[in-house]
Amino acid sequence: MSIKNSDVKSLSLSDAGVLRIEWASREMPVLQIIRQRFAKEKPLKGVRIAACLHVTSETANLMLALKDGGAVVVLCASNPLSTQDEVAAALVKEYGIPTFAIKGESNEVYYRHIKSALSHRPQITMDDGADLVSLLHREHQGWLGDILGGTEETTTGVIRLRSLAKAKKLGYPIIAVNDAHTKYLFDNRYGTGQSTIDGITRATNVLWAGKKVVVCGYGWCGKGIAMRARGLGAQVIVTEVDPVRALEAVMDGLQVLPLVKASRVGDIFITATGNTSVIDEPHFRALKSGAILANSGHFNVEINIPALQALSTGRRHVRPFVEEFTLSDGRLVFLLGEGRLVNLAAAEGHPASVMDMSFANQALSVEYVKTHRGLASRVYPVPEAIDREVGRLKLRSMGLSIDRLTGEQRKYLSSWEQGT
Ligand code: ADE
Repeated sequence: MSIKNSDVKSLSLSDAGVLRIEWASREMPVLQIIRQRFAKEKPLKGVRIAACLHVTSETANLMLALKDGGAVVVLCASNPLSTQDEVAAALVKEYGIPTFAIKGESNEVYYRHIKSALSHRPQITMDDGADLVSLLHREHQGWLGDILGGTEETTTGVIRLRSLAKAKKLGYPIIAVNDAHTKYLFDNRYGTGQSTIDGITRATNVLWAGKKVVVCGYGWCGKGIAMRARGLGAQVIVTEVDPVRALEAVMDGLQVLPLVKASRVGDIFITATGNTSVIDEPHFRALKSGAILANSGHFNVEINIPALQALSTGRRHVRPFVEEFTLSDGRLVFLLGEGRLVNLAAAEGHPASVMDMSFANQALSVEYVKTHRGLASRVYPVPEAIDREVGRLKLRSMGLSIDRLTGEQRKYLSSWEQGT
């Protein structure tokens, strides 16, 4: 349904969305502290923000914090399959935030939604995967000068932005929220770990114990997925292209194999590499019948679906978010969530408690961009003071306290004279 500058599935879903947003807020104490301060101080008064993020109950809480801070916010989806339609409806109907997002939208509608968000002429952009920033740079060069800065949520987006900056084409400063310690060590590892297992379980109801689970990529997301699959009793095999990460996997007690060998034995395959055609024709040819393929990376390119289709004689939906491919020799392969990020397609994404830290970093980074004029057109890290403050507030919200350095210890750490 489309009303006044919005495009969501149905406004009648709004009440359910409000309940979801409130439920998530209970697990987002750090963001709530920031929201309360923003409501008092209005640090973002009148600033136009376009956010291209997964439209979830956690993102809704971030949008409300920015709005309370005085910002004029519009939101569009950062993936065609990650939107929670109830939440999108509530954002529009209950909270008056223009939102462009429908779960299952086509690529065409997805880009139309990003264009709608951009048509609000943002002064600050917030992105998850850099599609909004990419479109802005490709189609609206003339608008770049009005933009104060932006933030980027995810590894893939930061990689794209660094490449834009390297080509000297990045038009304004952007803060790499992904790279804050209080983001990637928790969101990428524990968030992706839990929500990926959750998505595959909800889609298939598979028993993990005793399964051979092949995790492609041993970055922070892959580490989290492997850890949680192992915790459920799976035998985890890791595939890597980076020797150091492969060594880490071995010394974490996991088996490491080239993917073509792992393809012959694996029951469940999960990609988390950020790269393209990771599971490809030679691997499809080697799979056991019944193999399950899922992706947890940002884009739906990690599993080469056109190649899988080309090897298949049949393709049908057998459950929500599960497609069965029949290969010409009769083997069956199951693809989850159209090869899009399975944790958001088939489940609810990362739990609110971990998004609390990611989105606290987002909110404080937006405030930083607003108050620090004159930054160069570069990709910046989240200032350490923000990162540490988020960690401090999270610990406090969990009722935990930690020790402090004594004066003697601080002095010792800054000296070079003292040895044994
Ligand atoms: N990315 C992963 N999980 C998410 C969530 N729950 N909300 C927004 N973005 C996410």
